[in-house]
Amino acid sequence: MLNKLFATQKRDTDAKSAKLSLDPDNIPHHVAIIMDGNGRWAKRRDLPRSAGHKAGADTLKKIVAAAGEIGVKVLTVYAFSTENWKRPDEEVSYIMNLMYTYLEKNFLDLKKNNVCLHFIGDRSRLSDKLQRVFKKAEEDMAGNTGLVLNVAVNYGGRMEITQAVQNIAREAAAGKIAVEDITEDLVGSYLYTAPENDVDLLIRPGADTRISNYLLWQAAYAEFWFTPLCWPDFTKETLIEAITSFQARERRFGGLK
Ligand code: FPP
Repeated sequence: MLNKLFATQKRDTDAKSAKLSLDPDNIPHHVAIIMDGNGRWAKRRDLPRSAGHKAGADTLKKIVAAAGEIGVKVLTVYAFSTENWKRPDEEVSYIMNLMYTYLEKNFLDLKKNNVCLHFIGDRSRLSDKLQRVFKKAEEDMAGNTGLVLNVAVNYGGRMEITQAVQNIAREAAAGKIAVEDITEDLVGSYLYTAPENDVDLLIRPGADTRISNYLLWQAAYAEFWFTPLCWPDFTKETLIEAITSFQARERRFGGLK
């Protein structure tokens, strides 16, 4: 079943991917990635899972640069979900530290490359130190006009929608919003990714083909692309392959051709 899906996607892309040429007028505006498969990548090499996460962070650096070069405007990556706390403490601490060192190492490059960085998710459970560096990085890059990079940390799609509903309910109870004013646009404006909500292309490496509580509202009309490659093996060419597949699709948004 999975092989059939990958084969279909491959057929979509084979014609164009030989030349790796993209239509510059049809680059997906917002690309979302579930950075999966770090653990398996490490296991296959007899390495600890932490080595997979470290390699995953290196891949992220390359893919941020590649997305900007290709002309993607918004890139949203899943770094840590609300469910990932169930992992052993040692792994959770490793990933949290990795985010800190990633920022330390790449801050100047991101800034120089005009990246506008946001962290999305509930930060209240993160260490004070991490909350401080996230805030500082966001403030320092707030004026940047290049790629918008959303890094999802302690993020869950259901939690995001629930928090939006709570905030809207508070405003309604205070008489600031009338029930009739609660439209899709208004709900969208309460999401972490606002105003750039709609995802055009959602990519998941690592062979699983599920959404894992990621961008549930935002992915309503996203095109999905899956690959058995693990995230550390993902390259600029893989991203081009995914976008080539995207460009071969007909998006009807529920309408007719
Ligand atoms: C999923 O792979 C990956 C994660 C839960 C962590 C993702 C973190 C990074 C890519 C690096 C750190 C992030 C930043 C922003 C620097 P998995 O561990 O579930 O892989 P598996 O399914 O093979 O076990």
